[in-house]
Amino acid sequence: MAGAPSPAAIVTGAGSGIGRAIALRLAADGYAVLVNDLSPERSQSVADEIVRAGGKATAAAGDVSSEADVHRIVEVGTTAHGAAALLVNNAGIAHQTLFENLDVVDFDRMFAVHVRGTFLMTKAVLRPMLERCEGVVINVASQLGQIGGVELVHYSGAKAAIIGMTKALAREVSSRGVRVNAVAPGPINTPLVMELSDDWRAAKKQQLPLGRFGEPEEVAATVSFLASPAASLFVGQTLGPNSGDVML
Ligand code: NAI
Repeated sequence: MAGAPSPAAIVTGAGSGIGRAIALRLAADGYAVLVNDLSPERSQSVADEIVRAGGKATAAAGDVSSEADVHRIVEVGTTAHGAAALLVNNAGIAHQTLFENLDVVDFDRMFAVHVRGTFLMTKAVLRPMLERCEGVVINVASQLGQIGGVELVHYSGAKAAIIGMTKALAREVSSRGVRVNAVAPGPINTPLVMELSDDWRAAKKQQLPLGRFGEPEEVAATVSFLASPAASLFVGQTLGPNSGDVML
């Protein structure tokens, strides 16, 4: 189709679950999507899926907690699609253990992927956005960053940090054309949630006013909205596609 080039989006951790659904949705919305994942096979497979469906996508495997990888990921995206108009910091890991058994390696890894990863990726795309006075950053937090989760001190802490970073950066850059927001999903049917215990999942389902876990596409719809001009007044917010589990 002739006309304006597609705006460029980067989605991290997009080889699976919520990130994959976000990448597919943004491609359907008209973005050229840089599909990042730690796994080269998964990032390539989602990029291929988008291209087969008629969209634009490029894969760039890499670890968002590695500064060198982040520079390469953003470089691949810029070369393929131009400077990012939209960054979705979605890459994440789950790990569950009682606090007294939580060791420093697992604690550091949790913060490296979620907090350092969000910091490095955002830093790598922000300057060109500020120069153009235009851009959107969306961070995937979790409702466990708002209410805490048993055996999830490191996960809840990392997600709370992401919510704090979202608010602070939004205060700094919104008047310069860059909107920063977060989503804090409740339990969503993805491989990550399957890593939590059966007991946890059964108990959680009982608590949900909606009576069911969400689907990745339902989170992607929230991200699609936050990325769109319809969300022009949303600044530093944390939206909760969470089956009613947390009501703020
Ligand atoms: P998932 O496990 O299906 O997908 C996560 C993807 O991130 C994987 O493909 C993995 O390879 C990738 N990844 C992990 N570490 C990475 C790294 N260092 N660099 C690049 N990619 C990396 O998980 P899911 O459920 O789709 O989670 C996506 C995000 O949503 C995560 O940030 C998670 O914490 C968050 N979330 C998930 C919820 C759920 O119930 N599934 C609820 C609330 C938040």
